Amino acid sequence: ILLISLCVLFSFTEAYILFENSVIIDESDIDGKATFDVPLVCDDCHVYISLPQSSARVAAKLSIGKDKNSNMRFNSIARMKGDNEEKGYWDASDDGPLLQIFNKNKKLKSAPFLAWIVQANTTGINSTQIFDASSLLSTMLYSGTITVMNTEPFTVNVFTAQPLIMSATAAGFDMVSDSSCANVVEPQDSVSYLDMSLWVSSPIITF
Ligand SMILES: *[C@@H]1O[C@H](CO)[C@@H](O)[C@H](O)[C@H]1NC(C)=O
Ligand SMILES: *[C@@H]1O[C@H](CO)[C@@H](O)[C@H](O)[C@H]1NC(C)=O
Repeated sequence: ILLISLCVLFSFTEAYILFENSVIIDESDIDGKATFDVPLVCDDCHVYISLPQSSARVAAKLSIGKDKNSNMRFNSIARMKGDNEEKGYWDASDDGPLLQIFNKNKKLKSAPFLAWIVQANTTGINSTQIFDASSLLSTMLYSGTITVMNTEPFTVNVFTAQPLIMSATAAGFDMVSDSSCANVVEPQDSVSYLDMSLWVSSPIITF
């Protein structure tokens, strides 16, 4: 059964998308602003950044941290790698719960990016693999929970070693079992999916 559920708790004045234990922030949240307060309690948060190459120059003057003088640049975080092509993250764990984004571009300009910020104590954080869509160019083996993020629509090709029942959620892994997610694709029949190809126009998807 392929179940696609839509899981967005939109705020109507801002562009960010707030989930249960994470938030996705994009370029429109900081456009024209020198600072932006991350709307999530972050005593300890993992910060993931995705950027297209075309944003590199602007991203060099964007940073995130607990204060102006000890923060990390977006392009440094975007380049971090984990094991097996997984995304790396910056661990923002010191100095209290307020995490801020700082914009030092001329005219407080912005350019496409995604910042996904997840509370480190979220159930499943150690068993979920997190990728940039660009690291998924080759077909991958589906073995557990996977979250994929990207700034542009993308296609995921999944090879499953055996038929299995899977579901996909247009959200971070923290929302996978949340009952407030509306199903946007209802199951048509009970066929399990062998290999599949999924076109994704959400900034983040978990399956
Ligand atoms: C996880 O951390 C957040 C932020 O510090 C806190 O508000 C929340 O209560 C914590 N949850 C658990 C399950 O410990
Ligand atoms: C994830 O693993 C780290 C390191 O082993 C551990 O300290 C942490 O408590 C784990 N987090 C959760 C939410 O299970």
